[in-house]
Amino acid sequence: MDMIKAERCAEFVRTITDDFVPEIGIILGSGMGSIFNGADIKYTVDYADIPEFPKSTAEGHRGRFLFMEYEGKNIVVMQGRVHYYEGYSIQETVLPVCVMKLLGIETLMLTNAAGGISQNLDAGDIMIITDHISIFVPSPLTGKNDDRYGERFPDMSCVYNVYLTETLKNVFLKNNLPVKTGTYVQTSGPNYETPSEIRMLIALGCDAVGMSTVCEAMTAHYLGIKVCGISLITNKAAGLGNIPLSHSEVQKIADIISDKISVLIDSFIKTQTKKP
Ligand code: HPA
Repeated sequence: MDMIKAERCAEFVRTITDDFVPEIGIILGSGMGSIFNGADIKYTVDYADIPEFPKSTAEGHRGRFLFMEYEGKNIVVMQGRVHYYEGYSIQETVLPVCVMKLLGIETLMLTNAAGGISQNLDAGDIMIITDHISIFVPSPLTGKNDDRYGERFPDMSCVYNVYLTETLKNVFLKNNLPVKTGTYVQTSGPNYETPSEIRMLIALGCDAVGMSTVCEAMTAHYLGIKVCGISLITNKAAGLGNIPLSHSEVQKIADIISDKISVLIDSFIKTQTKKP
């Protein structure tokens, strides 16, 4: 993590967003990029315009920040994230989270597309992330620690904020969606897993697998941001279904379910009236 670089990026963003202070950050996963189309957007900042900022190259990821007032809350949405598999260092991958922290966010909602490992998860389901496994990618917290922002050896026993997670469960119930929770594992990607790797991940207690989110959740938690997350299950993980995995299939399913995600995000923001 490089908070000095993040400070320079945040300063640049503020030249566009002026005194707008976002309280909630939302990172949109694959196929969810159109969720805030039509919202009343105050400012748009393309990643490509921010000096030193990584670009989002993955298909289905737009690569810009949207700043808006939504249901009475100031929010910043990342339409497209940066992935480790794009060739960035893990520290660069989490730079956007550091920048959002400096802009003011206190809450971060992470979304992603993921493969379902648990028997209980089929394509089209949404899983609330209650914990994660990070050990297949380097920690974003490696390097010199900036003591102004967090401690050297941060606790990770409760990364996903209990209050926010309970709120999400209630939002699911209110919207007649089954409440499914589980552990998400981040792999480096860009390849999908082999059936043997999935059998290993089953043995390790993973419920869903993807190529993002965990490094962002760790960074946000380290920085004192309250974190919650949901995984949109786009496919059964390798060897568990009967079709080969492809990004276009992942995007197609994510696109179909993104309406549901949109409703969930909307209800979630509406409930964010009192501080946990
Ligand atoms: N594996 C890894 N990442 C993914 C998957 C998967 O099966 N589906 C969507 N993203």
